[in-house]
Amino acid sequence: MHSSQRDFHRVVAIDGPAASGKSSVARALARRLGFVYVNSGAIYRAITWHLLKNGIHTEEIDRISEALESAAITSRIGDGESHIVIDYVDPADHLRDDRVNQSVAHVSRFPLVREIVAQKLHEHARSEDLVVEGRDIGSVVFPDTPYKFYVDASPEVRLQRRAAQGERDEIALRDHADFSRLVSPLVIAEDAHVIDTSHLTVEKVVHEILTRLQETGLRIQTI
Ligand code: CDP
Repeated sequence: MHSSQRDFHRVVAIDGPAASGKSSVARALARRLGFVYVNSGAIYRAITWHLLKNGIHTEEIDRISEALESAAITSRIGDGESHIVIDYVDPADHLRDDRVNQSVAHVSRFPLVREIVAQKLHEHARSEDLVVEGRDIGSVVFPDTPYKFYVDASPEVRLQRRAAQGERDEIALRDHADFSRLVSPLVIAEDAHVIDTSHLTVEKVVHEILTRLQETGLRIQTI
């Protein structure tokens, strides 16, 4: 069934490539707005972790479908953020493991996986105002929301940011997989407002988004 934005509360979409600053911006923005923060990448990561933990290779689509059909994927809201729980386990501490970093872009290319994540996001938006970060939030998951942003940064800055977080993450490989996959590749939605964060602080980016949201007609009480 096709859902339209009328079925949903307000959704601010923040898309962009790895380490572009989406998470810090989206989390800070959600706090300012009093909206729930949802990191859609964390759902892809949780699914990837679950598959790896069960010894399922990320190429084995039949086993992936079976595993996901029988998995209980739920979420809870705590501290203004959505947390994914899979088979009653909260995988938060494992979402940025090296092996998850290496496999998540493979797992996220399967339409079945994308459908599960989109359904979760739609469920959330039926009951809460959201700031959702990801790759296809403005283009595919909530195409009718008027509040779309695409956050980018130069490849050098993105690499520095990941290194500063002490993570080993093959950003270039993940970018390639995300931009080139057949289903819901990373694109800039036509009506998205693009922000290059290479030389901006999180606070500056949040301010730019809030200003734009007001111009677009979102009534903001917290600034
Ligand atoms: O934090 P970072 O931007 O590096 O990644 P993430 O948001 O945690 O997303 C991890 C991976 O999940 C991405 O590289 C994509 O392959 C996938 N993803 C996606 O396909 N669609 C989304 N809406 C969000 C994430």
